[in-house]
Amino acid sequence: MFASTFLSPLRAGYAALLSFFLLVPMQAMAQTIPDQILDILDEKCSRCHEGAKPKAELNLTEEFVPANLINQPSHQIPEIALIVPGNPERSYLIQKILGTEGIKGKKMPRKGELVTAAELEALKSWIRSMEPQSSPAAVQKAEPQPAFPTLTTGNLPTAEMLPAKTFLYRVAHRFRGSILDAGFDQLYGFDFGSNVMTELTVPLPGGANLSLKRQSIFATFEVAARYRLLQQNPENGAPLSLALYAGFDWASTGNLRDPADTGRTMGRFEGERFAWFAQLPASMRSEKISLLVVPGILVNGNVLIEGEDMLTTLGIAGRLSVNRYLALFGEVVPILSGADTANPVGGVLFDTDGRRIFYDTFVLGLELVKGGHVFHVFVTNSGGNTTGQYMSGANFDVFSGDLRFGFNIYRLIDLP
Ligand code: HEC
Repeated sequence: MFASTFLSPLRAGYAALLSFFLLVPMQAMAQTIPDQILDILDEKCSRCHEGAKPKAELNLTEEFVPANLINQPSHQIPEIALIVPGNPERSYLIQKILGTEGIKGKKMPRKGELVTAAELEALKSWIRSMEPQSSPAAVQKAEPQPAFPTLTTGNLPTAEMLPAKTFLYRVAHRFRGSILDAGFDQLYGFDFGSNVMTELTVPLPGGANLSLKRQSIFATFEVAARYRLLQQNPENGAPLSLALYAGFDWASTGNLRDPADTGRTMGRFEGERFAWFAQLPASMRSEKISLLVVPGILVNGNVLIEGEDMLTTLGIAGRLSVNRYLALFGEVVPILSGADTANPVGGVLFDTDGRRIFYDTFVLGLELVKGGHVFHVFVTNSGGNTTGQYMSGANFDVFSGDLRFGFNIYRLIDLP
């Protein structure tokens, strides 16, 4: 069990500040369609132009813009493309908003709030900024919709990869105070310290990604490679995405006692400090629902236990998207074998008979995707979040109401 070191209540403020700090540079994100444009279409058009049967067969939601528009004949007057790159006046989309003479049907939007002059100007300059000969593929690679918006759910790796020419920064906190015990007076646990992880994931030559994580429990570093074996794509018949995520955790903290000989301190690079893992995330998406299954193995997972059995786990996660920004997600990571010696990293838990115990790691929360950022806010029963930590089992019993808050914030940044 982690000592509930009662750290400054400023921690909660720090967490809030950090989120704001990361929110501000959102606009600088890697992004093919400016957010401003998506927001206009979202607000003024998508209520009629979305879903399975959009008006005039024109879907104006993110997945279909701009592939559906650029150099694509309009439904009403096929001689006129919906967007003519570089030329807003000749673009049927703009003509329909302006009510230009010669259009068929009504001026857009047919009902609801009109497009303001500033919004019209934004749409026009977006079209003007496109290279005249650009094809939809040049503006946005017609990649299939990913099942998950980023590289992990709460803890589990997804089968996604970094978008081209970007790297990822993530900060993740797992608050130490129990939500119910802390109550309102201690802001449901935010007043206690948290276990903090930072992550940097970069592209490697050959299409792999390399992740480097550092988590505060035992000053653990995680180094792992990610490689996509298959990408779900209805066009070529691939039913699911599949990736490999493999590497190690290294408990680097100086002062660790050797579990085999508690009288001695372990050297910094002793084998006992390394936990080795491999996982095979497989995901599927159908419209609003995504599923993720992550079989995994973990060897020497707990630095406080000598000679533990290899663990096999089966992570299962689901995501239900509510709209373009918001989704609900959950995950569990049951230990299938090796449970006899399994124990949460960071502390050794025993039941009243002196047997080692653990709980299956569990996360349930909200996901917000905005401007290239992904935010996860959730409740969990695990204080650890490196692969070795959460695969080793969780510290707290959900069924007795022992839950903690946690969050992940991911930011994609363009490579120079
Ligand atoms: C209240 C529903 C509604 C809203 C809101 C709306 N549309 Fe439409 N849209 C329609 C209908 C119905 C049609 C077909 C009949 C017509 O053109 O009047 C249409 C047709 C179109 C067409 C012609 C498509 C083609 O391929 O020929 C375009 C372009 C278009 N809309 C753009 C927009 C844009 C841009 C917005 C937002 C600024 C918008 N619409 C908002 C209902 C709507």
